[in-house]
Amino acid sequence: MKGGTIYTYNNTTTTMPPGKKRWSWLVIAVLGLVLLSMLVPLAFLLGLHNGFHSGYATERRSSASSRNDATLDDSPSVKGGLSSRVDGLLKNLGPTLPKGFVRDSVKEAENKTTGFVVPKPVIKPPPSSPPEDFKALQVIVESDKMCELKFGSYCLWRRQHREKMKDYLVRKMKDQLYVARAYYPSIAKVPHLDQFTQEMKQNIQEFERILSESSSDPDLPPQVEKKLQKMEATIAKAKLAIVECNNVDKKLRQLVDLTEDEANFHMKQSAFLYQLAVQTTPKSLHCLSMRLTVEYFKATPIDADQSESFLNPNLHHYVMFSSNVLASSVVINSTVMNARASRKQVFHVLTDKQSFFSMKMWFYTNSYKDATVQVLNIEDLNIEGHLFSHLSMPQELRVSFLSASESRTEYISVFSHWHYALPMIFPTLKKIVVLDDDIVVQRDLSELWSLDMNGKVIGALQLCTVRLGALKGYMGKENYDANSCTWMSGLNIIDLVRWKDRDVTRKYQSLVQQKPSEATTIRAAMLTFQGLLVALDNTWVLSGLGHNYGISKEAINKAAVLHFNGNMKPWLELGISPYKVHWRKYLNLDNHFLTDCNVNP
Ligand SMILES: *[C@@H]1O[C@H](CO)[C@@H](O)[C@H](O)[C@H]1NC(C)=O
Repeated sequence: MKGGTIYTYNNTTTTMPPGKKRWSWLVIAVLGLVLLSMLVPLAFLLGLHNGFHSGYATERRSSASSRNDATLDDSPSVKGGLSSRVDGLLKNLGPTLPKGFVRDSVKEAENKTTGFVVPKPVIKPPPSSPPEDFKALQVIVESDKMCELKFGSYCLWRRQHREKMKDYLVRKMKDQLYVARAYYPSIAKVPHLDQFTQEMKQNIQEFERILSESSSDPDLPPQVEKKLQKMEATIAKAKLAIVECNNVDKKLRQLVDLTEDEANFHMKQSAFLYQLAVQTTPKSLHCLSMRLTVEYFKATPIDADQSESFLNPNLHHYVMFSSNVLASSVVINSTVMNARASRKQVFHVLTDKQSFFSMKMWFYTNSYKDATVQVLNIEDLNIEGHLFSHLSMPQELRVSFLSASESRTEYISVFSHWHYALPMIFPTLKKIVVLDDDIVVQRDLSELWSLDMNGKVIGALQLCTVRLGALKGYMGKENYDANSCTWMSGLNIIDLVRWKDRDVTRKYQSLVQQKPSEATTIRAAMLTFQGLLVALDNTWVLSGLGHNYGISKEAINKAAVLHFNGNMKPWLELGISPYKVHWRKYLNLDNHFLTDCNVNP
């Protein structure tokens, strides 16, 4: 409003005769000042100053107060554009952001603006200077918390590998060059900054030269870190030196658009590729499965009749659901290699149609001390009731916790639909140990068979860092104790006799009326065994090796069983290398099927 007035006077002066011009200028200036000095207190009286105090923050909270901002802004289109854009972005992100985030950035903006109580119509620093917006954006995009929420363990993986990125420094240099270029023209305009302008120019030119010669970090000249630091300092100085923000503002706005979209795009793209790597079978494992299947039909191995031991309830029966030959082999081999006696051990691998022949071939050509291995195709089992026609391998549920004090992600592995058919699959057996295929056994497990189960049906590792109450969204309207711990599959001992007594399968069926989904699977797993579960001592299983980078060597060496729950399975390239060795050592990498298919996890 005030700025507008002055411009109007300016326009009218052009029509006046030149002699009067100087005079009228003075008069106008004085008039303007008088008007201004009257308007300022008036503005305060009317309470408009609230808008100055925290212009950016209030504007963000309500669109009504943004009017104040616009009246004072000498270039409303530019700044209003930027802040409203950031606004929109924040509003979009709002509901999904952890509360602390938005509040912090608002506070930051408030601190920035409290200095400008007296409104000057012409030079008004923007409510929050663009670099801060830029940073805020970066914080949001880069925030590891957000990342984890959106993309899960990909973010942990990324954090670990960021240092290893081949062009990390190059990218950083490019970013800095962008910012420096944006500031440069405005700095060059300020007369008393000649020397600094020169310094900045040199920095920019040097960066341009280096970047024209290097596309990855190893190409960079030595001491580039120092140059980065120097540039950083120059940019910081430039930010302080600039009073007139229009140009930088505009430039940075383009820049924000650019880098934000790019960052988002890259993030999505790599998260997608990561997911792909997690979900798809590596080519070598696919090859292995094909080779084995072909060999099976060439050789048609004849099963030695071991049905007696398969059915004998006095032996130690281990059951596993898997479609992964390598993983199954490691579970069985590690169990056998660490057992005091393997003669009593019987393994039952339950698999699907696609993996059945390759599994058969593998376990036909490999032996595990004195243990026996049975491979079963679950699709052939003819379990009564079509409820079990739906095939699904064991699942993991990703649960992320976000609060001001912590952010963590847990991977809870749960029984698949098929686990609830176990008493029907093994009608003659009394007790079984159920293993997930992403574990490695490091101790003798025979103690499990004499464990006092206290009259319960299942022994499992409890996860008391996740209470049932935290899974509200999955639990439906069922009655449950929100305070009780969740439990994990991985290593479970099951008393099949009591299972049948308690009619656990029917209880499960009543909980899962429809086709199993992630929600019903987890709900059923948690509710079916309410009051029927005995907690296994924590020393039995160490979990988290598929997502937690921070597990100590001692903990790993001490654990009886390692559980690679999480996305980074040891047979994938993504697997966490220091943990992989504990898995790989139970593979015979000289096996000709493995060498033929280049399997080298
Ligand atoms: C089992 O593991 C041992 C090492 O502990 C290894 O020498 C052997 O080849 C493995 N057996 C199979 C069948 O993979």
